[in-house]
Amino acid sequence: MQFEMIKPDDWHLHVRSGEVLRSVVGMSAKQMGRAIIMPNIKPPVINATGVNAYREEILSALPRGSVFKPLMVLYLTDNTTSEMIIKAHNADVVAAKLYPAGATTNSDSGVTKIKNIYHTLETMQKLGMPLLVHGEVTRSEVDIFDREAVFIDEVLSQVMSDLPELKIVFEHITTKNAVDFVCNYDNIAATITPQHILVNRNDMLVGGIKPHNYCLPVVKRASHQSALIDAAISGNPKFFLGTDSAPHSKYDKESACGCAGVFSAPHAIELYAQAFDKVNAIDKLEGFAAKFGADFYGLPYNNEIITLKKQDWIVPKNYNFASNIVVPFMAGKTLSWKVC
Ligand code: NCD
Ligand code: ZN
Repeated sequence: MQFEMIKPDDWHLHVRSGEVLRSVVGMSAKQMGRAIIMPNIKPPVINATGVNAYREEILSALPRGSVFKPLMVLYLTDNTTSEMIIKAHNADVVAAKLYPAGATTNSDSGVTKIKNIYHTLETMQKLGMPLLVHGEVTRSEVDIFDREAVFIDEVLSQVMSDLPELKIVFEHITTKNAVDFVCNYDNIAATITPQHILVNRNDMLVGGIKPHNYCLPVVKRASHQSALIDAAISGNPKFFLGTDSAPHSKYDKESACGCAGVFSAPHAIELYAQAFDKVNAIDKLEGFAAKFGADFYGLPYNNEIITLKKQDWIVPKNYNFASNIVVPFMAGKTLSWKVC
């Protein structure tokens, strides 16, 4: 059995920089027409000059003949001004990303207090530039499994009532709370990763810690996983594909203090196909993967078509990653769909 669909896009992707970028970007370029490129590299992409340099670096790392389009994002800090947003907008930046300081990988320069960037958010609202949100609070007393739900109550609700016209993408949602919130308000959509629909916290912790199932926001209990699956296959255009593929070397993951991030770029669409097919919803994949994100960002669909074939294959144990190796999500496991 096989079927055709419009080539998908990845609305949340980390391709890193330097040697590592050259190892991974071709994998996304093969699967995806475009990708929203996360700006949390070192140093982060905080202004138009940084964006232009990073875009050039990505384009020159692409395989010859690739038409993959990186969609660039600005990293918000406490010091991002309205002028910086306007300059970035003029440099074809499609969105800006809110990392609460300390929430995740390379977020140290992130925003310490949302009120610090209200003037910036007002400018984005005027320009129609979407705000991409890493939705977790970082206060040490808040349990890691509750950080997304607390963020909704303490931060996101407030931002949405203060800036009702601001377009927001709630990135890599992990809870039923987030699904319900997105369904209930206008001007907000959400990305859903393959790991958050394929695994839950038992898959990360029962029988030994599985560092390659660890990312931020951390995978939650099975009932949240079910709510995310229901959202992804609902046909509601507010929910679309964003892998959050975030490669770290095997050694950085399999460590006493392992890095957060799941690497899914090489087989992203196959992972989603696996999850959708498991609940008999493969017919809902094209909207989620190739249409709804483009609609939200006001972009046309890709012209290319891909073919997915029902065929068992085994995910490689690892891939080259500059001078290291990187372990992909579900390494060594059998998947039942393949792009051909
Ligand atoms: C991401 C990374 O490694 O850059 N890690 C992750 O666990 N998702 C950062 C992020 O998106 O939070
Ligand atoms: Zn991410």
